[in-house]
Amino acid sequence: MDQTILILAYLIGSVTFIIGLKMLSHPETARRGNLVAAAGMGIAILGTIFLYRQSEGGHLHNYGWIFSGLLVGGVIGVVAARRVKMTAMPEMVSMFNGMGGLCAALIAISEFYHLLHFNTTTVQGGFVLGFHIPKGEMVIIILEMIIGSISFSGSMVAFGKLNGKVKDFAFPAQQLVNMSIMAALLILGIYFIWITPHLSGISLEGLSQYIPAISPYVFCAVFVLALSYGILFVLPIGGADMPVVISLLNSCTGIAAACGGFLYNNAVMLTGGILVGSAGGILTVLMCKAMNRSLGNVLLGSFGGGAAAAKTSGGTQGSYKEISVNDAAVVLAYAHKVMIVPGYGLAVAQAQHACHELEKLLEERGVQVKYAIHPVAGRMPGHMNVLLAEADVSYDKLEEMDEANSEFPTADCVLVLGANDVVNPAARKDPSSPIFGMPILEVEQARTVIVNKRSMKPGYAGIENDLFFEPKTSMLFGDAKSVLQQLTSEIKNM
Ligand code: TAP
Repeated sequence: MDQTILILAYLIGSVTFIIGLKMLSHPETARRGNLVAAAGMGIAILGTIFLYRQSEGGHLHNYGWIFSGLLVGGVIGVVAARRVKMTAMPEMVSMFNGMGGLCAALIAISEFYHLLHFNTTTVQGGFVLGFHIPKGEMVIIILEMIIGSISFSGSMVAFGKLNGKVKDFAFPAQQLVNMSIMAALLILGIYFIWITPHLSGISLEGLSQYIPAISPYVFCAVFVLALSYGILFVLPIGGADMPVVISLLNSCTGIAAACGGFLYNNAVMLTGGILVGSAGGILTVLMCKAMNRSLGNVLLGSFGGGAAAAKTSGGTQGSYKEISVNDAAVVLAYAHKVMIVPGYGLAVAQAQHACHELEKLLEERGVQVKYAIHPVAGRMPGHMNVLLAEADVSYDKLEEMDEANSEFPTADCVLVLGANDVVNPAARKDPSSPIFGMPILEVEQARTVIVNKRSMKPGYAGIENDLFFEPKTSMLFGDAKSVLQQLTSEIKNM
């Protein structure tokens, strides 16, 4: 009976993951989707704790450890999630993902020792005749340990880079070193898979010496090599490319968890792992596409070098026009249609609420207001959607890139708030630009463009933006939040 209920709990868990993931794809249902998947996970965890029967027949018994772990982990998770700033969200995702990778690696290590010590079955005349570690299980253990460890150490470096504590670091022949480590990992992994089922015909005494000889050293060597690979692989990648790397590592953690599902024959772990693995993989590809870069380019190169650096150091592109808050307020207040383009600067300034205030005020005056959302605006997928949702901006005001591009010609004014690369026309016009080919928001098609940022400094790609020097563009300098508050009070006084 217990086992039937447990299977049902796992089925509910698996189904809620799929439903939750589907709901996450739309801002209106995303929050509920998260809760649905979390509830399914809760049911699966409780089912495992209270209904799972070990092969020896009994239920789990070490409840003290289990609930202490749940309590400590739960409290840390809740406090971290509540305290994290929206701009630091990728850091948190990276940290949590790293913990998932570490869990998978620890499961693999403990299962390895478990198999090694409990599968010495046939003993005759003081000699071991059979040492039944199935090859399939060994393959899964090694894979889970390698992938989980890479994901853990890589995510920790990504976390350090995002909070500025770890700097980009590269040395000559780094790729060669990385490839050598990967080759060593493969050779050692294959050695393990080959050697362990062959430990037969040796004396019991010999076995007790043999196991410590292979297990702590070779197995630990695989673990350390996998950790080093994760560190060396992420270290040279540009800090701002971290969201793509995190998404890739996220996919690795999912695959490692799916290996755990195979190992334990656990449906919910398998489904969850496969979903995370494939969702992370798809997201990685989508992010690269939206930046018009290949995954190889993200992993081996970075924006801001070469042509980009040359262009930045090349100085200004001409003269730009500044606009005062008063004049900008007049342009916005007397427009028929205003389109707002939010970018990373809006998140930095935490100006989403001030932006929503301005939007409401303009609407009260009869101005139609829409938001144009670029898929990689900000620093993580859906960054702008989450930010605006936090300020209760209505979802039907958000327009995706293609829709927005067809509407810009009908807008009297586009207000660019802390966005830069995603509105850079060089992506369409300048084949030498590092962002050439990246789909952008074509804001220059509107009648006028007001760009708010603090200076003429470049954005994430490190390149100048010709939009700022166009005759129809006016620069409105200042912190996004303070500028929006000033605009609101100006319009209120009109
Ligand atoms: P960016 O190109 O990074 O430009 C942001 C601009 O905001 C900067 O030029 C900065 O100029 C301004 N800014 C910063 N703080 C501000 C503040 N407090 N108030 C007002 N302005 C402020 O951002 P974007 O246009 O959103 O483009 C995103 C970039 O990130 C793209 O290149 C994209 O490829 C990359 N990227 C995105 C993702 C995802 S998934 N979203 C992942 C990896 C990479 P000042 O310093 O002069 O103020």
